[in-house]
Amino acid sequence: MLCGGLSSGWPDDPFLCLQYSRLPRTGTGTAARPDRGGPVNQQDQSHIKACCADLYARPAVSWLLGDSLHPGGLRLTERLGRMLELTPSHRALDIACGSGTSAILLARQFGCAVVGVDLAPLLISRARSAASRERIERVLSFALGDGEALPFSAGSFDVVFSECAISTFPDKIASVREMARVLKRGGRLGFTDIVLTHGEIPEELQGWFSHVACIAGACSVEQYQEIFATAGFSGWREEAHPKGLLQMLRQVRLRLLALEVAGGLQKVDLSGLDLTAAKRVLDQANDWVQSGAVNYFAFSAVKEA
Ligand SMILES: C[S@@+](CC[C@H](N)C(=O)[O-])C[C@H]1O[C@@H](n2cnc3c(N)ncnc32)[C@H](O)[C@@H]1O
Repeated sequence: MLCGGLSSGWPDDPFLCLQYSRLPRTGTGTAARPDRGGPVNQQDQSHIKACCADLYARPAVSWLLGDSLHPGGLRLTERLGRMLELTPSHRALDIACGSGTSAILLARQFGCAVVGVDLAPLLISRARSAASRERIERVLSFALGDGEALPFSAGSFDVVFSECAISTFPDKIASVREMARVLKRGGRLGFTDIVLTHGEIPEELQGWFSHVACIAGACSVEQYQEIFATAGFSGWREEAHPKGLLQMLRQVRLRLLALEVAGGLQKVDLSGLDLTAAKRVLDQANDWVQSGAVNYFAFSAVKEA
């Protein structure tokens, strides 16, 4: 288990850990909002990151979301590859690569070499086994590491990309600085993520759900632009891809229904799972997405020469 345990004041279970990260703490006087720069120290941030990674490695989350853990699926990954103008001569880095599905697709489709990095050991080992089944295995590699402190030397990649992950990083400025550091001059950066178009995340969607759905630390387009410009990126391009979010919510709802049926037939043990509450949260998320307050975007930019 990645989370620190009760001795450090954090629950072991990643769901509880992420829920807890949003509760007001004694002495702070305010709610702990790590993703919005709330009063959370370095040790707390490490716990929150570890819990977030641990959560994505959970079989239930993979089962509900599938292997491609982002809205828009592999179709949007391919679109991002085109925005980045990937070629066989490129060495690309996928930050927060999950189980390697996107890295494998881009290497296969564009012929580039791809290195994937993620904080969850289980996902990295899944990515390595998936790569070992590919004929293009020699151009793929996966490493354990933190997006806010990448284990690679400066200027070692032509392209850096990340899908549905920057929104989950507590220190976005550090992660974007790291992207700039590992990119060559003139190298390209691309990412897809949830974007807040207006208002705040509704109260009922906060807690662990907002981490699973990548909305916990979502920024506006302008905020992202500012963070990337400060780190030395220009040539900003953006595309809205609203359908993926609704499709993902629909997929999760269908899988929850399947789970309910399987539970009713006593094929799976549903003890401890509150499916009614899960469906209520999904309905609320659906209404929120339909209201247009949140959207999914693909972005690209160039590191200034
Ligand atoms: C929504 S999933 C996206 C996974 C993958 N990019 C995809 O689209 O299939 C978010 C990923 O971020 C990883 N993650 C969270 N915090 C991280 C960090 N600080 N450094 C590296 N990976 C991190 C999680 O382990 C998880 O695999």
